[in-house]
Formats: sequence, C-alpha cells, structure tokens
Amino acid sequence: MCGIVGYLGHRNATPIIFNGLKRLEYRGYDSAGIAVLQNGHIEIRRQAGKLSALAELLEQQPMSGVIGIGHTRWATHGAPSARNAHPHIGQTGRVVVVHNGIVENFLELRQELTAEGVTFNSDTDTETIVHLVEHYLASGLGLVEAARRTFQLLQGANVVVLLSADEPDKIVAARLGNAGGVVIGYGDQETFVASDIPAILEHTRRVLFLESRQMAIVTRHRVQIETLDGRPIPPVVQVVPWDPVSAEKGEYRHFMQKEIHEQVRSLTDTLAGRVDFERGKIRLPELNLTPELARRIQKIYITACGTAAYAGMVGKYLIETIARIPVEVEIGSEFRYRDPIIDSNTVVLAISQSGETADTLAAMEEGRRKGATLWSIVNAIGSQAMRIADGYISMQTGPEIGVASTKAFTAPIVDQYMLAILLADLRGAIDETKRRALVADLRFIPDLAGRTLEREPEVIKLAHLLKDIRNCLYLGRGINMPIAYEGALKMKEITYIHAEGYPAGEMKHGPIALIDEEMPVICLAPNDPWHDKMISQIQQAKARGGKVIAVATDGDELVASIADHVLWVPETPWMLSPAITVLPLQLLAYHIAALRGLDVDQPRNLAKSVTVE
Ligand code: AGP
Repeated sequence: MCGIVGYLGHRNATPIIFNGLKRLEYRGYDSAGIAVLQNGHIEIRRQAGKLSALAELLEQQPMSGVIGIGHTRWATHGAPSARNAHPHIGQTGRVVVVHNGIVENFLELRQELTAEGVTFNSDTDTETIVHLVEHYLASGLGLVEAARRTFQLLQGANVVVLLSADEPDKIVAARLGNAGGVVIGYGDQETFVASDIPAILEHTRRVLFLESRQMAIVTRHRVQIETLDGRPIPPVVQVVPWDPVSAEKGEYRHFMQKEIHEQVRSLTDTLAGRVDFERGKIRLPELNLTPELARRIQKIYITACGTAAYAGMVGKYLIETIARIPVEVEIGSEFRYRDPIIDSNTVVLAISQSGETADTLAAMEEGRRKGATLWSIVNAIGSQAMRIADGYISMQTGPEIGVASTKAFTAPIVDQYMLAILLADLRGAIDETKRRALVADLRFIPDLAGRTLEREPEVIKLAHLLKDIRNCLYLGRGINMPIAYEGALKMKEITYIHAEGYPAGEMKHGPIALIDEEMPVICLAPNDPWHDKMISQIQQAKARGGKVIAVATDGDELVASIADHVLWVPETPWMLSPAITVLPLQLLAYHIAALRGLDVDQPRNLAKSVTVE
C-alpha cells in the first residue's frame, strides 16, 4: 500500500511530509524517501527499510524547503532498496516524481528512452515517468503540458505526483485508473496532496478527491482540476468529519465499499517486489522455497475457512494446472480432526487474512505434528499463521476493516498464481516461454480490476431490482466455481438473504428443483474453458422459469441473448479471471445490503477474526 504525501506552502515541507508518511505506516513498506526544493535545487533523501531509517538519514543530512513530495513503497519493480526507492529524479536533476501502480507499457517506454540516450539508475517502472516528463520539457513544453503528455502515454492503473525546480510554484498530480486515491487538502496559504486522508488530517479537513483520468495543478492558492485532454473540471471540495474512523473511509460510506475499490492498489501491492517482468521471473523470498524442496513436494493441502477457503479452491486449479502438483482443499475445522494422510513430502498451505483464525491455526498444527512443511498466505503482519509457518507470502493489501473479506480474497488468488509459477519453474514443469507468458499476464490484473469496478453503476441498478429477494442461487464451473461459493457467502453474510453457491453441473442432480421465478440464478460465464458448459446451464435454468443474471466477458452476444441481465467484465486471462469475476458479486452484495439499511461493515453474529472454535 504505497503512500504518497506532497506539500506546498510557507512551512518547512520535510517534517510535514515525514509525519504524513508516518500516518500511512500501517500500510507497511520496504523503503521510503522525500524530495524538497532547497535554494533552487532538488534535495532527495531515500532509504530502504522502515521510516525510522529515513528519520536517521534526515537527522544526519537535514534538508528544508517549502515544497516537496514523499513516498513509502511496496516495491513492484525492482528489489526494495534505496536506489529503487521513490522519489525518482531525472537526468537534468530538475524534475522529481513519486508513483503508485504499475506502468503496464514501461518496458516499451524504457526501450524508447534508452534508444534516445537516457540512462536509467533504477529497476523501477517509475523512472520512465520522470524521463518522459524531461523529454517533453526538452521539446519546449511547460511542466503541466509535459506532465499531461506523459500521463497520456502511461498504460495501466497509476497515481503520479511530480514537481520541477524550474516551476517551483506548483505540484502536478494525476490519477490514471484506480491505483488508489489522490486527495488534495486546502490549507491557509498552503496545499497538500496525499494518497489517503490520514496523512493530512492534522492540517486540514477541506479536501477534494481526484477521479480516474483526472490531473491536478496545485499551487499555494489554487487547485485546478482537468481531464487528461485539458477540459477543466470544477473542484468539489468536501469537509471531512473529524472522527478518524469516518475520515479513514474517505469518499466511501463503508469500509467494505472502500476496500472493494482498493483492490486495484491491493492487487498492485500483492505483486510488490515479487515480479520481474523483464526476466519473466517470480520471487517469493519469505517462502524459503528451495529447488530441492520444490522437487520433493508430492501433495499440497490448502487449508482455510470461509472466504479464504474459496480462495484456496481457486488455488487448487492454479497449482494443479501450472505446476502439476496434486492439491486438496480442506476447511480448517474438518482438516484438524480427520487424521489427514501427511508425510515429509506434503505441504500444508494455510490462507488467512487475520492469521489468527482458530480452525486454520489448528489445521496448521496438525500438519506440523505429522511432519508437513507449513506455508501460509497471510495479510496481518506478525500474526500467528505468519509466525508458525516455515515460509509465508504476505498478501500486502493493508488492513481489511470490513468483516466481509474482499481484497483479502483477490490478493491470495494472485499470490497462489505466483506460487504456482515459482513451483513449476523450480520443478521444470514449464519452459521459459510458458513462464514468461504466465508472468506477463500479471501486469494487466490491477487495471482489469479498475475497469471492472468502474462499472459499479450497472451493479447498483441490478441491486435495486434484487434488494427484496429472499433466496438466490450462484452457479459456476471449473476455476470460477469457487466464485459461486464466494459470491453466495458475500450475499449471505451482509444482506442476510439465503444464497447458495453450487457447482453448475450438479444442478440436474436435485437442486434444479429449487428454480422458479422467485429464485434468481447468478451464473459465472466468463471466457474460460468452461464457458460453453455454462451456456447450457443458463438455458436449463431459463427453461424452468428462472431469472438468470450472468457474469460474462465483454462482447459475449450469446450470453447476452439468453440471460435476463449481464454483469460485464473485461477479457481476462482465464487463470486470473476469478480475481475479476468476483468483483461485481462483491459490489452486488454490498449495494443490496446498503439498500436494505444493514450494518455492512459489522454484520450481525459475525466477527472479523474467529479466534475460537
Ligand atoms: C469472509 O467474508 C468472512 N468474514 C469469513 O468467512 C472469513 O473469511 C473467515 O472467517 C476466515 O478468516 P481469515 O481469513 O482471517 O482466516
């Protein structure tokens, strides 16, 4: 969860930015840096490790100025280090940039810039941005136009904030897609830019939020908002409530809605520091996976509870398809008591957002007792499931407050996809071409999520139609079958409507008796290897008078011709499609619960972490 803070005013920017970054530290990071304009030139201090390391550096080498930008980083490209930390400065030393997100076309841009003689000093995609801005400045454009031309070239979901020593009266910011928010705060003769409200709440409560594909020209006295093609947008200033909890929700009514929309950034962050797109390699250092162990594994049990277990069901398809290792998915409360068959060539992989779920921890202990290697995929840093494992993958989504899990469902899907590639690579189960192709697909996921979430208005319309139903059925097949279960769980736990997830092929063996016009059927029918099977499922449900809502891939005329409603998703590589097809179902459950006036973030009878049996 990279953090960004910018300041422009009459006070020393360094402490204001540093303290703002500290407010974001619960998001975790592996490096941080600040740049300020001092006596007409840009000073930068960057450090790997926690903010305390940067504090020491600032102590030793203080700097001050009335304009600056700072950043805490989850490395997406390039290992966590000072050289890869933001801010990044260009060759002229006059322009500096901080960034959240993934520049999907950074390889092409880097090649073009290198061919023009640009020398790169880091492994990051961010550095292409600052060199592009300098390229346009050199052509005679001013900072705003040079930034605009650069933003128009960047593909993917990104947030960019930059400044120039040659135009020291402004900061330029842009939100391209949904790689997290950009909030601009109005002070007294000073202005703030941040990725999240807590970073600036002590200075101001008057804020505005950038929308996707918008840029801001920020000076001490004025904030201009424009679309990327230069059309002015009237700024809508809001006053943030004092209480930090509702301030933390930002522009959203509930944490759950915020966390659903945070999935572009959390999917970006869960890739953080793990994907080398240039070499097509995955690295999961905390897993402690050796080639010897990778080759020795004969069975993987994935154990978890609730939503996490459904993420594990997707993982089964990923690991078996890519790495050809047998996988069984077992819910924790069953696995712990069924005397499972385990030996030293078995891995028990636990998935847990909280890392404290009693049934999951007990299942891990059962695996340990029988000699298995223990891995975990966990969100809460320092939790038991992280500590007792022989190796782990941190989801890196930042805290999930809403009881109904959303971003901690999609992150482990991508984490298991990366795990499958690493296992397959170490076992020789895939060649380099296949490995590079699988890794390349990861680059598009955050933006595909952003494009799906932008379709929220369509989901809201459907929520109005469905808000009074009493039952519904979710059907899926293959890798999207777990999404039927997860979609039904979201509906159950926050709207209290009875919702059942089922393998679509099983309907004819009994449950089809349930279908009538009172029982809407939600069918997962994206472009995946089971698509055609789902078509007949939809037709069977329609033939019995059922109302069918399909989740389908853009342009699928066949589904559009037979379903009553379609929630469209963009074309997605089928193995990663569950991380996308679940999004409209998260939004549907959320909006129905909100329309029913229920306590979305803390549903009745539920707890965020079930630490008892
Ligand atoms: C998810 O929406 C539910 N709140 C619940 O099923 C949850 O996934 C389950 O309790 C497991 O929690 P964990 O991921 O923290 O282990």
